[in-house]
Amino acid sequence: MVSITEHFSSSILPTEPIFATEEHNVFEIAKERLLSLGKRFLVITGGSSAQRSGAWDDLASFFKENDIEYAVFDQIEQNPSIDSVNAAIAAHKDHCPDYIVAIGGGSPIDAAKAISIGLKGNLGTGMTKIGPTDMIPLVAVPTTAGTGTEATPFSILTYHDFGTKLSIPERVFPTISLMDARYTKSLPADVTMSTVLDAFSHNFEGYLGTNATPTSDATALAGMRLFAETLPALRAVFTAEPSFDTRAKWMAASTLGGITITQTATSLPHGMGYVLTYSHGMPHGKANLATYAPYMKMCMREERLAARVAEVLAMVGMDSIEQFDALLQEICPGLKADISAEQVEEYAKAMSTNAAKLKNHPGSASFADFVDCFSHVAKN
Ligand SMILES: [Fe+2]
Repeated sequence: MVSITEHFSSSILPTEPIFATEEHNVFEIAKERLLSLGKRFLVITGGSSAQRSGAWDDLASFFKENDIEYAVFDQIEQNPSIDSVNAAIAAHKDHCPDYIVAIGGGSPIDAAKAISIGLKGNLGTGMTKIGPTDMIPLVAVPTTAGTGTEATPFSILTYHDFGTKLSIPERVFPTISLMDARYTKSLPADVTMSTVLDAFSHNFEGYLGTNATPTSDATALAGMRLFAETLPALRAVFTAEPSFDTRAKWMAASTLGGITITQTATSLPHGMGYVLTYSHGMPHGKANLATYAPYMKMCMREERLAARVAEVLAMVGMDSIEQFDALLQEICPGLKADISAEQVEEYAKAMSTNAAKLKNHPGSASFADFVDCFSHVAKN
């Protein structure tokens, strides 16, 4: 069997991923590496996922056994704002840590990337790059398997003054990512479903995207193979607890997805998914997959993309787009939303002028295509 670590290559990922085993948690495995970074830590968390996941207990044991001084900033909200980032920087600027540990889903890790720059004095407003990207070393400890932020340089923050989310201009990779599948065990099954679908969507959209390269293809295919291998467990996630091995594969698929989109960026479904999340409350991973059937059909018009769609369908054991869509609707509740005919038109219009996403799709994409996509999601 191919080990998970064999899927990674340091030449395409500046971050050092360290994986737990079923016998040893990741802080035990990474102990010497962490101690080499310094003795003063700042922990960044939000909500209660750090405690609930068990990651906080393992980190606290590591601190205690190694006589380590640490501070905690636990005020990072979902969709973290630049204001919270600035509050963390202001609170810890005078006692700068040797490194930062960020525990949680995408939000604390994204915020910690910006904080790691701000503690060196170069973040500014977060909207314009004001100096070289110097950062406090950052250790990411994901408690979900999906966003891929543990392996991307993106820090996406909410700017309330502008009423939107933006990626900060700096590219900030975590120095180390501590990948421990046991920390995803406490997630509700619905969150596991949505986050695993998000990881799949990063690999799939990267594979179908304009910027796909042989190296992004390699990581995308490896991530989708892990998805295919674990599909039976995902189908049963509401009734049967996934094994450690399955959860470890989902974490690896997340990291592979992060490496993929660092090279390719995401494509049309992510663009459409944002409005389904903001305006209809659909979780991010589900929001991407909600438009996959019509998106795949759009791809079938282009010979190169059609071959890739067929390849992925075969990989996951499906004969057709319709069969794949039926599987999604069966295993994943909540892929439909109350979208009016007017909203379908409004969203389709916005997507047909969304230059940032359109350039990542190497085929044609018209207003009518987006009407099809949003109509597919609408309940009727
Ligand atoms: Fe995503």
